[in-house]
Amino acid sequence: MTADVTTPERTAMHNANRLKIGLFGANCSSGRAVTMVPERWSGSWADNLKLARMADEVGLDFMLPIARWKGYGGDTDYQGATLETMTWASGLLASTKRITVFGTVHAPLFNPVIAAKEIVTADHIGQGRFGLNLVVGWNEGEFEMFGVKQRDHEARYEYAQEWLDIIKMIWSPKEDFDYEGRYFRLKGIRGKPKPVGGVRPLIMNAGASDTGRVFAVKNCDAFFLQASRVSTEETAGFVKKAKDLARQHGREIGVYTVGVVTCRRSGKEAEDYYRHAIIDNADFAAIDRILGMKNITPETKGREEFERQRRFYANGMGGLPIIGDADHVARTLADLSDAGVTGIGISLINYLDELPFFCDEVLPRLARLGLRERQPQYA
Ligand SMILES: Cc1cc2nc3c(=O)[nH]c(=O)nc-3n(C[C@H](O)[C@H](O)[C@H](O)COP(=O)(O)O)c2cc1C
Repeated sequence: MTADVTTPERTAMHNANRLKIGLFGANCSSGRAVTMVPERWSGSWADNLKLARMADEVGLDFMLPIARWKGYGGDTDYQGATLETMTWASGLLASTKRITVFGTVHAPLFNPVIAAKEIVTADHIGQGRFGLNLVVGWNEGEFEMFGVKQRDHEARYEYAQEWLDIIKMIWSPKEDFDYEGRYFRLKGIRGKPKPVGGVRPLIMNAGASDTGRVFAVKNCDAFFLQASRVSTEETAGFVKKAKDLARQHGREIGVYTVGVVTCRRSGKEAEDYYRHAIIDNADFAAIDRILGMKNITPETKGREEFERQRRFYANGMGGLPIIGDADHVARTLADLSDAGVTGIGISLINYLDELPFFCDEVLPRLARLGLRERQPQYA
């Protein structure tokens, strides 16, 4: 009934890399590092364009933005300046040749008929390289700004299911149909052109709750989860659980994760920079506001756990910290692959400054381990 399959080429991001590597969060000021260091990421269009072209040249697999509408305040107004992700993706797709670029859409904020067309347009610009990150939202303050009331948690995903069903129908060969659901009553729906090749784009989701996870495995090709900070075995368990859940719904999915990389010539250099940027110069005023939104306070969690969470959120808001020399970083990425992870979205404090070293040193090591194709040099 719906265009509910995508091609292996799209899921493989049009290459044979066994471990996909992408850049996460570059459309936001400060990226994913809640730090006051002056070299923190600008998030400007000029820097994003340079970054995407560099990533494309060197054969990275994807760029994943964050749909953030309002910053978190603090001394730096963390993620206060953000580029809207669909227009950001369209611009980057027009300026690159190989890389997959995701756009992130909040289902409750966008009419599905408009979103379906925006996505198809971006997909045509990128000739089949667009990916959709569908999110339902968790930040109430952002929704108030739109005058939209956030539904209760279960209803968010019920709504998202109807939203996505409509979009998939629009992308299918179906013409002039009505939709009658609990949340949408739409008449005479028509949408042309269809996505490139008549096949829907790659879809990802990162639901963390039980409901979110079921939604993701039922509807998406790529599911993002948090890797364990304790052991590779634990991560392997998380991956297996997600894949088993998908199989219960008759689907095979790729399982991805997110990491925050500090890679330097030596382990000590990496540790020193990490301490300088993420501990000594953390923007704790912003971190405390983020934690407050998630109801993580000394009163709800106890002082010790609260302090642990503060440090955890300073770097990547929960992404796996990978700090060390190139051998260590490559080994950690290889371990994730061994645990069954299909790919990882990484963040750097200043993506443009740090990416060349990562590409020169880490990518060839991963190629030698058979995890990635040999890479061309960046321009
Ligand atoms: C890789 C990744 C990307 C995400 N991108 C966004 C985003 O752009 N905007 C957003 O509001 N939430 C984003 N989220 C949050 C998730 O969509 C989800 O709401 C969150 O993990 C809570 O799960 P739940 O909705 O099942 O409670 C992201 C999470 C991850 C791990």
